[in-house]
Amino acid sequence: MVTHRQQAASSVRRDAWVEIDLSAIEKNLSIIKNWMGTEQPAPQIMAVVKSDAYGHGAAQVAEVLLASGATWLAVASVDEGSQIREIASGAPILILSPSPFWALGTAISDSLDLTVTSISEIEAIADVARKLRMCARVHLKVDTGMHRIGCPPEKAKELVELIEKLPELDLKSIYSHLAIADDEESVRAQNNIFSTVLKDMDYESRKNAQGARLIAHLASSDAAHHFPFSRHDLVRVGLNLYGLEATKNSKTLTPALALRGRINHIRDIEEGEAVGYGLTWTAKRPTRLGNIPIGYADGVDRKLSSRLQGLLSGKLINQVGRISMDQMLFDITDVPEAQEGDVITLIGEENGLRIGLSEWAVMLDTITYELACRLRVRLPRIYTRRRNGQ
Ligand SMILES: Cc1ncc(COP(=O)(O)O)c(C=O)c1O
Repeated sequence: MVTHRQQAASSVRRDAWVEIDLSAIEKNLSIIKNWMGTEQPAPQIMAVVKSDAYGHGAAQVAEVLLASGATWLAVASVDEGSQIREIASGAPILILSPSPFWALGTAISDSLDLTVTSISEIEAIADVARKLRMCARVHLKVDTGMHRIGCPPEKAKELVELIEKLPELDLKSIYSHLAIADDEESVRAQNNIFSTVLKDMDYESRKNAQGARLIAHLASSDAAHHFPFSRHDLVRVGLNLYGLEATKNSKTLTPALALRGRINHIRDIEEGEAVGYGLTWTAKRPTRLGNIPIGYADGVDRKLSSRLQGLLSGKLINQVGRISMDQMLFDITDVPEAQEGDVITLIGEENGLRIGLSEWAVMLDTITYELACRLRVRLPRIYTRRRNGQ
């Protein structure tokens, strides 16, 4: 919790920062594990840390998640995987989409798990692995209805048999992705197709190169939470780990991310004076303005101008005028004790009040996924850990 006139939280040379509470992420993982129930074996958890852990910092977050019981990591690209290979130590890291052929050597050398969807991808990976005299770990992605990436369901068995024939490849899993993970009917329809694919290839009796059973996975956060039938051997969870839901504040999870800035300038204006680019906001009373060094270049959408609110000394205050590239103004008239150096919270909690990313998502007609990813453009991140995960 940021208290009034708090000292700098770190040596960051900027009065604006994103704070990540790692204990919230641990707590969220433990809640998600509880959702999985007591059935044995419980589904494994693949922590989705792509896009720099949805803006939370992949290296720091992955380390905490692996130490707290996640057994797999998932990323979007070879580069994202290579960047966390060292901290992930031996943990498997799955790249969730096909990789460019020229990056396959790096992926295999860094022991990254590759997604395959076609004969040509399978053959390209086998070629590179052969030249490297290594074995590549691969996962077959099947399209069960989203029609983004994946092989057609009726092709899955043939591709599995091809992979099994190639000694340079080690098949680890069969998986698919949900188009509407919070809609039971839609999840059930995709799950039925997925289950048929698994049954047709007799996946339970198939073993990989080490004699281990193949893993089947389908569910992302919402389905893993609400639809036990979709969990299979493993769930791929992203958003919920960060304490977020797509368009509303979670009742059970704790958001890990906060966005804060310090007032670097205070200015008094008269009633009737207007402020900022375009002079779009006019004071209806004598007004005290506080400026913070955060703008749209930091990932705060300009469309939030004169709409978002902040927290200052435990009070809600209004942002006024256009958000500019590096700065924005707040009406701090009702916090007369405010001084330059005080912290304004844009996202996060202060004195029991909370502003959630979902509130911005609703105003912008988007989802928290997008907004969390955007806040990493140039804001430094500070990692905190609250006692008892409070
Ligand atoms: C293939 C795949 N699996 C799992 C996830 C995680 O989804 P969520 O963040 O909703 O848990 C994503 C996220 O976009 C994904 O693309």
